[in-house]
Amino acid sequence: MKRGGRRVRTAANVHAQVTQADVRAAVAGLRGSVSFQAPLRDYTSFKIGGPADVLVEPADIEDVCLVVQQARARKVPFFVLGGTNLLVRDGGIRGIVISLARLRGIKEEPGFILYAEGGVGMPTMIGYAIRHSLAGLEWAAGIPGTVAGCVVMNAGTKLGEMKSCVKAVRMVNMKGQVLDVPAAQVEFRYRRALLPRGIVVGVWVQLQQGVQSEIERVVKDYLHYRRDTQPLAQPSAGCVFKNPRSDSAGRLIEVAGLKGAHVGDAEVSIKHGNFIVNRGQACASDVIALIGKIRSVIRRRTGVRLDLELKIVGKP
Ligand code: EPU
Repeated sequence: MKRGGRRVRTAANVHAQVTQADVRAAVAGLRGSVSFQAPLRDYTSFKIGGPADVLVEPADIEDVCLVVQQARARKVPFFVLGGTNLLVRDGGIRGIVISLARLRGIKEEPGFILYAEGGVGMPTMIGYAIRHSLAGLEWAAGIPGTVAGCVVMNAGTKLGEMKSCVKAVRMVNMKGQVLDVPAAQVEFRYRRALLPRGIVVGVWVQLQQGVQSEIERVVKDYLHYRRDTQPLAQPSAGCVFKNPRSDSAGRLIEVAGLKGAHVGDAEVSIKHGNFIVNRGQACASDVIALIGKIRSVIRRRTGVRLDLELKIVGKP
């Protein structure tokens, strides 16, 4: 995986042998949950993916520090699972997969600031902002991921992006220490934030005081738009491709007649061309084959090279 121009060794792409004893030692003593051979299809919005050697859900940020320190001591790679904009290959992920699902704290701070721990879902954060009459997150209505995932990806829609509201990011660095990074030190690019190496465990967002009914109206309108135009009822990983400059990948795919095309149970959504949906039993290899087919048809017809927005990780 490439981040900031360097190759980063993660559990998702590492090929070195890791012993079971190392893995067990790296997750010993955690207060959160630990499951060996956890089927990642149960933890991804695509409902696809082979097993993790071990999946941990740290109880809190201190537990995240512990797992990072122990993993480093044993040279066991780890990978943080967001789970929504992700395709895990059928061979699964070696080493430790960390889910931040238990990091669910959220609070308002003076100056219309919200702090959320990394595992808080964006829909939960938006609900909290509405209840506290805080405006500035409406653009994110309908994004299903965690706030940590949204920061790492610089998640965005036509109405806005994470860059516009992040004030600071709390991270656990590769030594297992907590580090607060002001937004000014983060370079936000299209669907990617360049952050120090480590795990995003919390985010401060700067909002403004707003009128509750107005914030709620904008959020609801936007959710309706997404429900009308996107296949939200079927398992998927959101948009598969980044939009090419001043065009929509979904439009190009529709015009190429690819809606409904499928490999096994992986299907180009009839509703939105930039979504691949899992009709039930799709494997990662089906999705990857379908992605290859879409790319080559679009390249041939239009000359456009579609880049992936979806992250593909794990062993084939
Ligand atoms: N369109 C088609 N056919 C399709 C899909 C779209 O002709 O199958 C046309 C639409 O009619 C519209 C234009 O393309 O004129 C743009 O479509 P849409 O409003 O659905 O937006 P998009 O550019 O396809 C982007 C984001 C979505 C986000 C929507 C709404 C990217 C890659 N996609 O999609 O984000 O939900 O805007 O704000 O940035 C995601 O990131 O996972 C994602 C789904």
